[in-house]
Amino acid sequence: MSPERVFITRQLPHAAMRVLQESGLQVDVFEQDRPIAPGELIGRLAGCSGLLSMCNDQVGAPVMEGGSLRVIANMAVGFDNVDLEAARSRGILVTNTPGVLTEATADLAMALLLSVARRVVEADRWVREGRFVGWGPQLMVGADLLGKRLGVVGPGRIGSAFASRAKAFGLEVVIAGRREAPEVGPRLPLEELFATSDFVSLHCPLTPETRHLVDAAALGRMKPTAYLINTSRGAVVDEEALVHALRGGEIAGAGLDVFEDEPHVHPGLLSLENVVLVPHVGSATESTRGRMASAAARDMVAVLAGRPPVHPAW
Ligand code: DGY
Repeated sequence: MSPERVFITRQLPHAAMRVLQESGLQVDVFEQDRPIAPGELIGRLAGCSGLLSMCNDQVGAPVMEGGSLRVIANMAVGFDNVDLEAARSRGILVTNTPGVLTEATADLAMALLLSVARRVVEADRWVREGRFVGWGPQLMVGADLLGKRLGVVGPGRIGSAFASRAKAFGLEVVIAGRREAPEVGPRLPLEELFATSDFVSLHCPLTPETRHLVDAAALGRMKPTAYLINTSRGAVVDEEALVHALRGGEIAGAGLDVFEDEPHVHPGLLSLENVVLVPHVGSATESTRGRMASAAARDMVAVLAGRPPVHPAW
């Protein structure tokens, strides 16, 4: 009997490739260092039992059509890129990689908060442009953290890890979410969190309920001195409304790792000084990416061997 075939949409770290190769699967890897287009993905899946996908691969019903997929192992904690209903109705198991990227993503959220509050990127540009002519009492003054309030929307693993870091900087933490998490902070109604926080950080998954959770009304509630940090999914924020709020001084700034229509970034954001923009790199550390890839590979092998996955997405 010929070995089962699996398709991987990006080259993975060696340890994860070894997990797949040692399992006896026939492994086909997308050769190019770019996201695969949905049409190309459909073509490459013929005869495959497994797909190891990235968070920016659109894995909708057409991708699942006509193939013999039994598992989609998504190398990400988020799985809004996979049509779960379509997978479920075809008996395809979907897995994700929670836990292993918690600390790295919380670190990046903290880096964004500090960068935007203390104008680090703007100041760096200033120095490189040769504009630094000496210390000045008003030069690049930013916002304090000590004693300020941080509102964490979605105090799950990453939100909680971020809150611990923020507390070490003297921030008072409040939360909004589906459940209480007294160890992280008192739970407030979302509107109150937006209205009273000096920093709002988003850590909720993208679902129909959270799409554009941060819209013009939410931004309008925020203090003009407040900052928005987003390391969750771009579409949790209405980017058009955010640009409007930033331009109009409705909020003081934003630190964004994710965008509504990646890799497209709203041109309005690109022209603003009071935003820090990074290209969806929350989990981008060597060891974290290694652990994510290995976790996805192990779950793919498990499902194809008839064992339950460690991280089913439902
Ligand atoms: C995830 O895991 O969902 C991230 O967005 C990619 O690391």
